[in-house]
Amino acid sequence: MLDVAAALKRRPQRLLEGRQLALVFEKPSLRTRVSFQVAMRHLGGETIYLAPQEVGLGEREAIKDVSRVLARYVDIVAVRTYGQSIVEEYAQYSGIPVINALTNEEHPCQALADLLTVREKLGDDLRGKSLAFIGDGNNVSASLVVTAASLGMDVRMAAPKGYMLPEETVSEAAARAEASGGTLTLVTDPAEAVAGAQVLYTDVWTSMGQEREAERRRIDFAGYQLNRELVAQAGPGALIMHDLPAHRGEEITDEVLESEGSIIFDQAENRVWAQAAAVAFLLGVAGQVQS
Ligand code: CP
Ligand code: NVA
Repeated sequence: MLDVAAALKRRPQRLLEGRQLALVFEKPSLRTRVSFQVAMRHLGGETIYLAPQEVGLGEREAIKDVSRVLARYVDIVAVRTYGQSIVEEYAQYSGIPVINALTNEEHPCQALADLLTVREKLGDDLRGKSLAFIGDGNNVSASLVVTAASLGMDVRMAAPKGYMLPEETVSEAAARAEASGGTLTLVTDPAEAVAGAQVLYTDVWTSMGQEREAERRRIDFAGYQLNRELVAQAGPGALIMHDLPAHRGEEITDEVLESEGSIIFDQAENRVWAQAAAVAFLLGVAGQVQS
C-alpha cells in the first residue's frame, strides 16, 4: 500500500471516476477530513461529509441503520468515532468498505502516512531503522507501533506508568516485530527510548474525548516532553514527527516543532496519498496504478 501511495503521489491517476466516499465524523478534524476530500478529487471521485451534529450514530438512529442506508448511496465510507466497537459494528452491517478514520483505540490512516513519510526520508527498506514514540499509549501510538513493527523497524516507546499501550496491542506489535525481524522495546524512561534513535515521535497527552483528564495528564506526562534536551540524546539529525494538532509547550516545544529535523508538515501532506492508496485498494483499482 505504501508503494501505491508513493506512485500516486508521483503521478495522480483518475481511477475512481464517479465513485463516492462518505465521511461520517463524530469528532472534529482538519487533516483527515480534508486529505480524504483532496485524495478522492485527485482520483476523480467525490466525497460527502457528515459532521458530528448531523450523524448521531446510535442516538438519532441505530448504527446498523445509518450503515445500511449510506451503503445504498456511496461506494466506501470513512468513520471517525469514539469506541472501536462502534466502527466495527458499523462495518458489520455495511456491505461496502469501511475505513477507520480514528477511534479512541486506533488511527491507521495516520500510521500509513507516517511510514510513507519515514520511507521518503530514510529509504524504502526500514528494517533496523529506529523510531521512538514518547508519550501516551493512545490511538496514534498504537497504530504507529504496530505498523512500524510490521516493517522491521527498531521500535521503542516510553510512556508513564499506567499509560502504556493496551496488552493486546503490545502482543500484536510483538508478533509483527518477530515476523519482520524488527524489535519492540517498551520503557518508562524517555531518555532510554530516544537514545541514538533516528526518528522521534510524540502526540498530545490528552486526546479528543479525554478533556476532563487534562489536568491530571499534564502532571503525569510532565517528564515526557519532546524538547531540546531530549532530542539531544537521539541520533544526529534525528527526524521529529507529530500527527497534529499539537499542544505546543506540552508534549512538544515550539522550538522542536519548528526545528530543522521536523518532518511534521510532510506527514500532514502524505495523509492525502496514503489514504488515496487505501481507497484504491479497497475499491479494487490498486492494480491499475501506474508507477
Ligand atoms: N492528525 C489528524 O488526524 O488530524 P485531524 O484530527 O485534524 O484529522
Ligand atoms: N490522539 C489524538 C489524535 C488526533 C489526531 C486524539 O485522539 O485526539
